[in-house]
Amino acid sequence: MPDLADALRTIPDFPKPGIQFKDLTPVLADPALFGQLLDALAAPWADAGVTHVVGIESRGYWFGAALAERLGAGFLPARKPGKLPAASVRATYALEYGEDALELHGQDLPDGARALVHDDVIATGGTAAAACELVEKAGGTVVGISFAVEIAFLDGRSKLPAGVPVEVAIVV
Ligand code: PRP
Ligand code: MG
Repeated sequence: MPDLADALRTIPDFPKPGIQFKDLTPVLADPALFGQLLDALAAPWADAGVTHVVGIESRGYWFGAALAERLGAGFLPARKPGKLPAASVRATYALEYGEDALELHGQDLPDGARALVHDDVIATGGTAAAACELVEKAGGTVVGISFAVEIAFLDGRSKLPAGVPVEVAIVV
């Protein structure tokens, strides 16, 4: 079986000089690798009672919706501001310069919902931390956080809520 980590394409100096960009599109493009990654993402949560996966716009949708289907869970998109049509909860997070926000249709997360937050990559951790805040604002519980790739040296995990299990398919 091919090593998933070997399938990542590293692009030097993208989007800025000094950054080694980890490109997951070769995994998406290959059905065997795509399935292998979904297997790796789903396995840790098989018995976690996940009712909903919250995937983060936009690359968190690549695997998030398919992961929800594998887990027999619903899928909620956490979207960039102003994109969702119905009443939404909102959480802001810091960027290198300025801030951004995510929004969620809180009404679609029922009482007692057990949410798995998913994104393609954890770098500094700010994006996923905001998604966890959204789930809590909507009245749900974050039972886990899932990433396809972790950029380990940035220690993004330190920004995530304490005590919540984190699972990563590929650590670089
Ligand atoms: C990237 C990536 C994660 C986030 C990780 O998304 O897809 O969502 O950055 O960074 P962090 O851990 O430092 O917060 P980006 O905001 O570039 O948008 P995209 O998914 O729409 O490409
Ligand atoms: Mg993203």
